[in-house]
Amino acid sequence: MTDLYDRINVAAAAVRQHTDLKPDVALILGSGLGALADDIAAAATVAYADIPHFPRSTVEGHRGELVIGNLSGCNVAVMRGRFHYYEGYELDQTTFPVRVLRELGAHTLIVTNAAGGLRADWQVGDLMRIADHINFPGMTGQHPLRGPNDPRLGLRFPALTDAYDAGLGRLLHSLATAEGITLHDGVYAMLTGPSFETPAELRLLQLLGIDAVGMSTVPEVIVARHGGMRVLGISMISNIATPDAPPANHEEVLAAGEAVKPKFTALLKRLLAELC
Ligand code: HPA
Repeated sequence: MTDLYDRINVAAAAVRQHTDLKPDVALILGSGLGALADDIAAAATVAYADIPHFPRSTVEGHRGELVIGNLSGCNVAVMRGRFHYYEGYELDQTTFPVRVLRELGAHTLIVTNAAGGLRADWQVGDLMRIADHINFPGMTGQHPLRGPNDPRLGLRFPALTDAYDAGLGRLLHSLATAEGITLHDGVYAMLTGPSFETPAELRLLQLLGIDAVGMSTVPEVIVARHGGMRVLGISMISNIATPDAPPANHEEVLAAGEAVKPKFTALLKRLLAELC
């Protein structure tokens, strides 16, 4: 079976065998940020390996399961672990789960990641609401919507002027203020990785006005918007990625996720309570 639409429906039907709960909100939890899923009153936890056509998670800190249930009064489907281009998957594979969550009923996507902060005055553990993105792989042809377009899934030429929902962004900022949590607004750029950036690359990104850099998120956001979902993106600044910073490593990324767990969890739970 090669047709994307059919593969989405086969995968969604397999998930529905585990629960008939219909998620309103889909969440993708990035590196080190999976703990939020522990607080869900889970109706079902489905290993990615048990969902037809799903890729497998290969990265430490990404568990590889879909948790469906209720969190703060919201019916949610949480991806505990995501797929990256650098793992060897094509972008339509890395974004396939977003299609399935959309088919299951989710109309809003909350996408999170760990990212390098390009602003010298930011701290490790700060949060950034993604206000906009730069799709570097897309500029060289690696785009999740490349190939035939199925009009049942979305437009051939979707607009991305409003990729990140302004209302959700305002809501997140007001909740962060109420919780005393520092929340920046900024531009996220995706590079494919898996190597971290050279100092010259970081200088280039700074010159372009980019605030945070990572290896994910942008393809998922594009596919969510293709499917008409509202999107909220949050980066957790896991390391300071200025040209003079010490070399980045994956362990510090995971450690930063562990350290921000309490505030990150509190903020997302408050947000969900407002959304549903
Ligand atoms: N660069 C790219 N991706 C990242 C970084 C970084 O510094 N930190 C976390 N993901």
